[in-house]
Amino acid sequence: MGNQVKRVGVLTSGGDAPGMNAAVRAVVRQGIARGVEVYGIRRGFAGLLQEEMEPMDAHSVSDIISRGGTILQTARCLEFLEEEYQQKAADICRKHGLDAIITIGGDGSYKGSRNLKNHGINTISLPGTIDLDIASTDYTLGFDTAVNTAMEAIDKIRDTSTSHERCSIVEVMGRGAGYIALWCGIANGAEDVLLPEDYDYDEQKLVNHIIESRKKGKQHHLIINAEGIGHSSSMAKRIEAATGIETRATILGYMQRGGSPTARDRVYASTMGAMAIDLLLEGQEQRVIGWRDGKFIHTDLDEALAMEKKVDPYQLELCSTLTD
Ligand code: F6P
Repeated sequence: MGNQVKRVGVLTSGGDAPGMNAAVRAVVRQGIARGVEVYGIRRGFAGLLQEEMEPMDAHSVSDIISRGGTILQTARCLEFLEEEYQQKAADICRKHGLDAIITIGGDGSYKGSRNLKNHGINTISLPGTIDLDIASTDYTLGFDTAVNTAMEAIDKIRDTSTSHERCSIVEVMGRGAGYIALWCGIANGAEDVLLPEDYDYDEQKLVNHIIESRKKGKQHHLIINAEGIGHSSSMAKRIEAATGIETRATILGYMQRGGSPTARDRVYASTMGAMAIDLLLEGQEQRVIGWRDGKFIHTDLDEALAMEKKVDPYQLELCSTLTD
């Protein structure tokens, strides 16, 4: 295939993430600079199955680098788990002369890439998810923006918690992963951080910690709870009953997915988007782009999907040492 790549499709899939637009812009403009035609596919794999695609020119990606969300829109496509639809999508790619598909999304989107690969379509995948839960990379587009959004919101909650001498449980996103919770735990100086990777579900320990820290004179008690543990509202009721300290729960929710991307998200997205085109022109096949040891890297798609990611135990320990 190599430098015969003439036309590629780009799609965003799964939960949107700040920086996706910057990545799409880079794919389109690097494509134009290198003589590759780029088709924007709407609504991820669902849109691919409906043949919702159109050629993109430099102007079509004007004024989007600073915007959250994705101009291509996104979807979660359950049909794409079925062989029949995977074959159909690959046939659609061939019908439209697409030499490769560039997908921007989380691990579900990587699996979508693998489904296309299994039907003979070349793919390049970019890590786009606020969750930071892709094992083949140390960075995923959107994480920096999302964690800063959550951090700022939690600072505000902390102010009112202190005024009212309350305990606050703040639930942050992350699906099965606790990276946003871990980072907010450190960045917001939380008294407790509950991560799916580590939590022992011993609520009595939590209750004892709240009572002890109140005795030490702490005026608030901030608990960051990862979405993967959840149940923040019922937890707040039980904690209030057990400690006698007013306890409130806040679920930050989808606000964490929106907003203008930070410089890091814009620059990493731009670099990864451009790299996707360059990899294709080098003749690379089935690669996933990542960031590791201070460099942009690329890894084989199947190898990337087989990797496992673990939270850093040192950072985990910091959460408790730095707040006690
Ligand atoms: O993967 C990003 C994410 O925001 C997760 O943190 C969350 O669990 C999930 O998406 C929510 O997905 P949906 O938009 O389908 O409700």
